[in-house]
Amino acid sequence: MANDLRFDGRVVIITGAGNGLGRSHALLFGARGARVVVNDLGGSAHGAGKSAAAADQVVQEIKAAGGEAVANHDSVEDGDKIVQCALSSFGRIDFLVNNAGILRDTSFQKMTDEDWDLIYRVHVRGAYKTTHAAWNHMRDAGYGRILFTASAAGIYGNFGQANYATAKLGLVGFSNTLAIEGRKKNVLCNAIAPVAGSRMTETVLPKELIDALRPEFVTPLVAYLCHESCKETGGLFEVGGGFVGKLRWERAKGHTFRLSRPISPEAIRDHFGEIAGFAETTHPADITSSMQPILTNLPTAKGRGGNELIDVDEALGYEFPEQSSSYDERDLSIYALGVGAAHDPSDAKDLPLVYELSGEGFRALPTFAVVPALNVIFKLAKEGRQAPGMHYGLDRVLHGEQYTEIKRPLPTHAKLTHKLRVKDIFDKGKNALVITAITTYDESGEELAYNELTTFVRGAGGWGGERGPSSDVNTPPDRAPDATITEKTRLDQALLYRLSGDWNPLHADPAFAQAFGFPRPILHGLCSYGFAARHVIRSFCDNDPRTFKSIKARFADSVFPGETLVTEMWKESDTRIVFRTKVLERDKVVISNAAVELYKEVPRQRAKAAVSAPAAVATSVSAAASGEAQAKAKGSADSKDAVSFQPTSADIFAVIADHIQRTQDIVARIGTTFVFKLTSPESIYTLDLKNGAGGVTPGAADKADVTLEIADADFMAMTSGKADAQKLYFGGKLKISGNVMASQKLTFLQKMDPEAAMRVIVARRGGASPTGPALATTPASSSTPAPAAAAKEARSPALFGALRDRLAKNPGLAAEVGGVLNVQVKSPDRGYVLDLRPGAANPVSEGQDPQAATTLTLAEEDLLSLCQDPSQAHDLFMHGKLRVDGDVRLATHLGFLKGLAQTPTVS
Ligand code: NAI
Repeated sequence: MANDLRFDGRVVIITGAGNGLGRSHALLFGARGARVVVNDLGGSAHGAGKSAAAADQVVQEIKAAGGEAVANHDSVEDGDKIVQCALSSFGRIDFLVNNAGILRDTSFQKMTDEDWDLIYRVHVRGAYKTTHAAWNHMRDAGYGRILFTASAAGIYGNFGQANYATAKLGLVGFSNTLAIEGRKKNVLCNAIAPVAGSRMTETVLPKELIDALRPEFVTPLVAYLCHESCKETGGLFEVGGGFVGKLRWERAKGHTFRLSRPISPEAIRDHFGEIAGFAETTHPADITSSMQPILTNLPTAKGRGGNELIDVDEALGYEFPEQSSSYDERDLSIYALGVGAAHDPSDAKDLPLVYELSGEGFRALPTFAVVPALNVIFKLAKEGRQAPGMHYGLDRVLHGEQYTEIKRPLPTHAKLTHKLRVKDIFDKGKNALVITAITTYDESGEELAYNELTTFVRGAGGWGGERGPSSDVNTPPDRAPDATITEKTRLDQALLYRLSGDWNPLHADPAFAQAFGFPRPILHGLCSYGFAARHVIRSFCDNDPRTFKSIKARFADSVFPGETLVTEMWKESDTRIVFRTKVLERDKVVISNAAVELYKEVPRQRAKAAVSAPAAVATSVSAAASGEAQAKAKGSADSKDAVSFQPTSADIFAVIADHIQRTQDIVARIGTTFVFKLTSPESIYTLDLKNGAGGVTPGAADKADVTLEIADADFMAMTSGKADAQKLYFGGKLKISGNVMASQKLTFLQKMDPEAAMRVIVARRGGASPTGPALATTPASSSTPAPAAAAKEARSPALFGALRDRLAKNPGLAAEVGGVLNVQVKSPDRGYVLDLRPGAANPVSEGQDPQAATTLTLAEEDLLSLCQDPSQAHDLFMHGKLRVDGDVRLATHLGFLKGLAQTPTVS
């Protein structure tokens, strides 16, 4: 074919071409037009003896197939003779494949000098001699391709192969260096780490594997890397059994110590997590990029300066110990009032910021995100904890600028973790500028907010250090503002705002304020910040704060409570508003260089952190199997029935069914039908992620894309994390037929929620009717779910089962709700989704719908009394026993629950 990669007219030397990989390379090159020098010493796999037969035989094969080849019987240790043979036979040399090799495997303890030296001589010195003899011919010709045969043993190490591994990784360094030296002359060098069945591996690999790993699977890569169209150089590839992939170095982000002070072993110990952790990494591809962090750190040797107030070297980059805090609706309401929201209680658009029962549900003001971050700093300051190298008192500090970014709308309550770091220190001449970065995470570890607090430290500059970036950002354009809001602050505004945590007497105590040169207490800069942000939200987001992304502002002057704030706003783009806030009475700019950024659409909460594929199920399974989960399910601490909680494969498929039902887009995304054939005992399941709503059914589908065959016990070991899928596959215990690649799509299991998984298993075991597409029938041969007493005391499943029957009989019963409700039942814990929209296909199901308009949370006990008398909802709510998140209106129509607790199904 015209498109075939041919080697007509080229001359290739292949060392060790009498057997295995070398032979396969030689045959392919010969078949594609190259003239081949088939070198082979013809000794044993351990380097003993010699014979011409191996090389001669391969030459015959090439010739028989119509190719051109010559045999050479020298050892690679006499590589110059091999090259001479090529030149005298064919007059040139284009490719050299260094392939000859032997093994002298033995544990290091038993290794002799001969074992060590012989391996070195054949692999390293042999490659050196042959390559060195060919090198200048290639350079002079301005063309050449050289290949080195390395090994996974060299890359990863392998027992009994200290000599071999050393030599093999040595070849990688050899190849990398020649790649650099040869590049300009078009002499390109690469290394491969092959896996193939050959006489060399027949003693270490099982026969079936030897047969499957044919050398012919490796050779195409060798041929391509040698072809003139391939420009790859300095690469290292793992290849074998159909897999071909390039390797590269990965380096931990590491830790950079300032050089102006000694680095101690303790400092290494303290930073070992970053030094050895791979959470953040780089991939240096050459010495220059490898040296980059070292070279950029060298200037720190002379120190970054400072003075008696700030030692920049010590303070810069300091990370405070992690801090935690929490907030709830009350904190949000107090903050909202503190920054002037709902000044007019009849303003329906402000009410959701302060009233948790307002129609659309409670909403957090985005600038609240600064409050927990700042409060953590106040807490540290109160405890006298400052970053090392900071030797100034709070009396020198002025809040200069603030940046607050939120990653998604703030939840109405949360437990938070904060990481604080001294991000920058600048020398502004007389004063210093210190920027502290605070990153705030929610309970799941997802980043929720990021704050940068810029403080002016009066009189702390002047050491001749970096001045920092220009401060002339976010200046308003030269035109009339696109929107202006004028709002008077209250006389007691600062007293209200300080309830959010900034207790500095400067904002409350007249004498204290006077001592600082103010006629009376001043308003907190962050209070005006909150006012200004509200003005932007009101003007450009119809008072809906959910698309708010960030705000940056400089505090230019003080505000006195009672003064009138005027915020002038310029819409620079759909997502960017520049603004300035003045005090009307004194015509003074109090917030300058300020801008708000908006999201184009409301950002969503990230899906729960993924765990490894089997681990997701494993977590749930082991949790379910543990006494703790069992006790939870039973509502008691008694766990003597733990054995009955050993999950079965039927449990696991029920968990998967539940997951499919709750993950709406999964079918469209995966588009594959999997059949699982379990053996001993036998059972078959079809996991349909292709048709309609998808699901899990017992039995095999007619048309499966992938079929996986595995023993029940191995399946359980795999899903409980005790066995590795890949190992099972390679060990022949997991058979995959059909579209093998599509089996990769099973990684969706990684996203399964362990808690939901546990609920499903507990529900199955408790005899509660599983919801949704959970298995209609379990295969007769699969283990029968134990009739555990574990969940007997959980009454909510029966209650919701009764509700399902009721709604089936009276579809219009819950019409007045008209939305989706999550009901989170506690003690024992269960979750239910009530889809009460007209015509909903599945009005009652287990789990949690992230899109639900409202979530009710209450104890089972209270749920039962609520069912007896739904009018108790208000009472339960007022006593904190019923929690309502989201649209409260949906929670006011619970009449459809009435009497459910007395239905016979419950008793
Ligand atoms: P093989 O034993 O089938 O072939 C090696 C050939 O090299 C033999 O024909 C042998 O006579 C020849 N040879 C040995 N010493 C020689 C010398 N001093 N001068 C000239 N020829 C000599 O082994 P296989 O598996 O084909 O190995 C080829 C290369 O691939 C070797 O470098 C080996 O280390 C490497 N390799 C092979 C792996 C595998 O899974 N087969 C794994 C990793 C690396």
